[in-house]
Amino acid sequence: MENMTNRHSVYLLGISGSPREASTAFVIKEALGYATRGSKTKTDYFSLKDKNVNFCIHCDYCIREKKGCIHEDDMTEAYEKMEKADAFIIGTPVYNGTVSGQLKTLFDRCRAMVAKNPDALKNKVGAGVAVGGDRLGGQELALLTIHSFYLANKMIPTSGGPFGANLGGTVWSRDLGKDGAQKDAEGLSTVYRTVDRLIELTIQLKERVDRT
Ligand SMILES: Cc1cc2nc3c(=O)[nH]c(=O)nc-3n(C[C@H](O)[C@H](O)[C@H](O)COP(=O)(O)O)c2cc1C
Repeated sequence: MENMTNRHSVYLLGISGSPREASTAFVIKEALGYATRGSKTKTDYFSLKDKNVNFCIHCDYCIREKKGCIHEDDMTEAYEKMEKADAFIIGTPVYNGTVSGQLKTLFDRCRAMVAKNPDALKNKVGAGVAVGGDRLGGQELALLTIHSFYLANKMIPTSGGPFGANLGGTVWSRDLGKDGAQKDAEGLSTVYRTVDRLIELTIQLKERVDRT
């Protein structure tokens, strides 16, 4: 009998919330590469580096018109990718103990997507990765901010589970960019465990939808 878990492909979107091509981008690309080993996972990638993403200005155009955001900028590309994905792995550098301003702006701009369609992100599964210059620089608080975004938008947050990847991927770059992250073997293991659980849960949810 065919293994049920192999019947389903997962479309996984990685988002890097760093304004640089450095440790966070490296870790998210590593996560996407890991996700595709021997599985039917397809991946896509969106980086906030060099992107023109304006602040939400709370004009409520999106609420009134239900046609998306009043800004026309690089969020258009992000909206398209986010709507297509089954699962997200969002990475952020830790800035002052939480997510980067760039990533927070992307989160805020998603108000327009869900104002147009409240179910735009419903039941998609999400995990997070936080990369700090310090070993304990606020990675877990940053991850909780990513999980809050998922919860607020009807998504299903997940992590790598107990004994090491409790809230998701936590990486220590020592402020050395990609080279620092690459050397954090323990941190990368939390990312791989998070990806394993993210894919497993996404497939299980797709199987349930098939049966109902
Ligand atoms: C404005 C700013 C604030 C930062 N705050 C923290 C922090 O609170 N905790 C921490 O561990 N690292 C902090 N860092 C260091 C970055 O998290 C770290 O260098 C990270 O690897 C950068 O990610 P990137 O290489 O993808 O840009 C901060 C860096 C910047 C620029």
